[in-house]
Amino acid sequence: PSSLSSGGRFSEPTDAFVEAFTASVSFDQRLYRQDIQGSIAHASMLAEVGVLSSDERDAIIQGLTEIREEIEKGHFTWSVSQEDVHMNIEAALTAKIGITGKKLHTGRSRNDQVATDIRLYLRDEIDVIAAELTRLQQGLIDLASREADTIMPGFTHLQTAQPVTFGHHLLAWNEMLQRDYERLMDTRKRVNLSPLGAAALAGTTYPIDRAMTARLLGFERPTENSLDSVSDRDFAIEFCSFASLLLMHLSRMSEELILWTSAQFNFIDLPDRFCTGSSIMPQKKNPDVPELVRGKSGRVYGHLMSLLTLMKSQPLAYNKDNQEDKEPLFDTLDTVQGCLRAFADMVPALEPKREAMREAARRGFATATDLADYLVRKGLPFRDAHEVVGQSVAYGVAEGKDLSEMSLGELQQFSASISEDVFEVLTLEGSVAARDHLGGTAPGQVRAAAERARLHLQSR
Ligand code: ARG
Repeated sequence: PSSLSSGGRFSEPTDAFVEAFTASVSFDQRLYRQDIQGSIAHASMLAEVGVLSSDERDAIIQGLTEIREEIEKGHFTWSVSQEDVHMNIEAALTAKIGITGKKLHTGRSRNDQVATDIRLYLRDEIDVIAAELTRLQQGLIDLASREADTIMPGFTHLQTAQPVTFGHHLLAWNEMLQRDYERLMDTRKRVNLSPLGAAALAGTTYPIDRAMTARLLGFERPTENSLDSVSDRDFAIEFCSFASLLLMHLSRMSEELILWTSAQFNFIDLPDRFCTGSSIMPQKKNPDVPELVRGKSGRVYGHLMSLLTLMKSQPLAYNKDNQEDKEPLFDTLDTVQGCLRAFADMVPALEPKREAMREAARRGFATATDLADYLVRKGLPFRDAHEVVGQSVAYGVAEGKDLSEMSLGELQQFSASISEDVFEVLTLEGSVAARDHLGGTAPGQVRAAAERARLHLQSR
């Protein structure tokens, strides 16, 4: 029988299956550190306002500190009959220090306690994730500035469109991650508020000091409304929403890495340590890490849906449904950390195959738009220029020649406006160098953008 249903109101013990079914200790024990941190702040505040004596406070803090050490050394026995992390620790405290342990829960409920624990836990994890995201961005920016001159085909519809630089492509990835970082920091603001003191739902009759516990726990300030405080899980949903966008981005990057490592693209080499072989096909080297990251987007989107659905019909204030918030949130945290670590380790190790990238851009008539722009400068309306270049490309396809490989005479079949200076715009280098404005792919612009991005990271 659980300690909460063995005495007082209950005339029979909880059914053994129900006890196991309703328990959360198997997964919420990972909140132990934050639970103890919250309890120490609560006890300190109770002593400050005169609800506990300073001896009682000291005994509680001493007991909780010992319990934390026991848990960390693996000497603590978690018990399903104590339901959750909160009851397990409180029971252990009372076993250790006696009657004073029973006073810890004065002016508090597990409802505000668990909301406090999750916020503290998530805040700590957000800080770890922010550092890892920064490490990944750093790696991307460094690689981008090294590859500011490397030419590759840019794509639309996965068909060769115009030449770009590899550095420019990498900085596009960085922009996605930059927005993710900003969303994470914005989420953190709403995570970092203290619900402690809301008690079960209505507040408490004790003269508590919520500003003090908020301060002791490093929260920005206390939350406003007790009913909302114990029932709000928006912050967890926001985090999963951040995580879903991040995983969507990592999945898109993964998809490109997977394509690029294929023999058909052959744009990059992924070091062996990020790949595995096949049990049957001896030639295989599979890009497992990006494939797995792409696949993991599924579970993260799923967790976002779980939490939205969990919350959608709950009346105020706390409901036991909320116990279901933890597994989706924890798995999202683990998944995000794993994927970011994999990417932050992998990105600096990417080996671009510059010749193959350049050759792919050359083969794909990637400078056709440059030829059209050239004709516009010679006085043709753009639509007519588009037509002329279309004919030149059709000729090139038939003859197996890229535009830059045609003679002046061949090109002049399509327009008399073409002269010797056309070859400057038909080179890949000329094409990328010409897109020389903010946000463009010219190597100078890419280097400047990488520099701005680097300074931005330093200011975090
Ligand atoms: N284990 C519970 C949870 O995770 C703690 C709060 C329980 N409160 C209650 N009144 N049953 O949400």
